Amino acid sequence: MAKLCVNIDHVATVRQARRGSEPDPVAAAVLAELAGAASITCHLREDRRHINDADVERLNQTLRTHLNLEMAATEEMLGIAERIRPYMVMFVPEKREEVTTEGGLDVAGSLGRLKEATHRMKAAGMLVSHFIDPESEQIDAVAACGADVMELHTGGYANARGEEARLVELAKLVSGAAHATRNGQRVNAGHGLNLRNVLPVAAIPNLVELHIGHSIVSHAVMVGFERAVREMVEAIGRATTLAERFTPEEILRQYSA
Ligand code: PXP
Repeated sequence: MAKLCVNIDHVATVRQARRGSEPDPVAAAVLAELAGAASITCHLREDRRHINDADVERLNQTLRTHLNLEMAATEEMLGIAERIRPYMVMFVPEKREEVTTEGGLDVAGSLGRLKEATHRMKAAGMLVSHFIDPESEQIDAVAACGADVMELHTGGYANARGEEARLVELAKLVSGAAHATRNGQRVNAGHGLNLRNVLPVAAIPNLVELHIGHSIVSHAVMVGFERAVREMVEAIGRATTLAERFTPEEILRQYSA
């Protein structure tokens, strides 16, 4: 069964609306752990629009599970990761003007730079993940970089309109995960997942973690953080049971809203 990794960035987004101290993303991360999250992610952006440097340090000191630090592979961020040393560094593309991470990394197109950054992080004792679109060329490039993990971008699936379009995007994730597994790589997935669309993705064989943030924080505003995390853990568990009898595509047709 895939494990849930909770991204707590948007707890910090609410805090930054008033530039005060609440809600505290570290407190939310602890509640997420109590509710069954297997790890916590935060994205330290160049513009510090939500998570800040002190949050990363506090999370790293406080968590009982693992901290995954999502970041661009810039000199500034590499230096911060070397100093704080979270469990895993997750390289993502980053544009100042984007609302959220828009696409996967072009690992194949920046192999030299990403290979060097990956080796630097591994030498400092961290696992390294690359966030990529589910394409064979990128999956093989992650292996060529020596990264330990990849995260398949589920945004194309989450944003697809209509069942047929979603099936096409789901098939890319299924074959991407199978390709990576044949290579012996560890695969996570995430972006845009919510309680309505998570079942088919959670039923894809060999996914280790699902990384989910915005929908959990949104639901938490209505029902509380622990309950929002618990409901997502339960949905992933339900998908695991369904996957014993159905393919991800069948689950999409029958169970996904
Ligand atoms: N994975 C990556 C690499 C991301 O950039 C994000 C968004 O910060 C997520 C997963 C989580 O996406 P969402 O907030 O849409 O669940």
